[in-house]
Amino acid sequence: MNEHFAPEAAPTITITPVNAEDEAREVGVGPWPGPWPEGDHYDPELLAGGDRRNVVDRYRYWRREAIIADLDKVRHDFHVAVENWSHDFNIGSVVRTANAFGCAAVHIVGKRRWNRRGAMVTDRYQHVHHHSDTESLVAWAAERDLVLVGVDNLPGAVPLETYPLPRNAVLVFGQEGPGLSEEVRRVCAAVLSIAQFGSTRSINAGAAAAVAMHAWVRAHVFGQPAGTTTTPTP
Ligand SMILES: C[S@@+](CC[C@H](N)C(=O)[O-])C[C@H]1O[C@@H](n2cnc3c(N)ncnc32)[C@H](O)[C@@H]1O
Repeated sequence: MNEHFAPEAAPTITITPVNAEDEAREVGVGPWPGPWPEGDHYDPELLAGGDRRNVVDRYRYWRREAIIADLDKVRHDFHVAVENWSHDFNIGSVVRTANAFGCAAVHIVGKRRWNRRGAMVTDRYQHVHHHSDTESLVAWAAERDLVLVGVDNLPGAVPLETYPLPRNAVLVFGQEGPGLSEEVRRVCAAVLSIAQFGSTRSINAGAAAAVAMHAWVRAHVFGQPAGTTTTPTP
């Protein structure tokens, strides 16, 4: 037996089931101890009662509007769009990741209502726009000189890993089942696939969005160019 996998070497892990509410209750800080700090960005209610929100420490006790204004100074140039023709449960997760990676805005294309559960309230700090159809998204992007880049592992898609993502990209994701609609594929400058090596046909849209957004971050925040090797065949 490989000694690294000997049972006695394994730590004891207690798995406690959590849900969104439990997680939200666990995080945060109590009432501000001592004299209150000065500044319009502080929220008196949070200073008095504590701040249990899922925000980074830098924003503890800040008013929501102050956090949004501060994020607006540092948001990146890329946008993401998600097709929402059947209330895809992944959209919340896409919004949460978009918030984490400093995405300029998330665009919901199709139905206005989307399942917010996976967003874990990060949508409060993230610009989210609605477009009733693809045409409206295309017009919005054209006005701002943004390039639509589809992300899906469809036949003919090119590897994300070797594609030079444009800085002014709108990364567009499809939904569970059908994936990117034909209409969206037609208006994208390219459709990019994320390399897979297992038996499943696809990963979920939330995971795909995280990979693609981070590829943009690596290219344009860390200056790491896309790889030059071709995708290895599993
Ligand atoms: C569950 S997939 C469905 C479609 C997929 N083309 C299929 O054949 O099953 C939902 C969305 O996740 C994203 N996605 C999932 N796997 C991907 C991959 N390997 N490469 C790029 N995008 C992917 C795409 O945006 C896709 O529209």
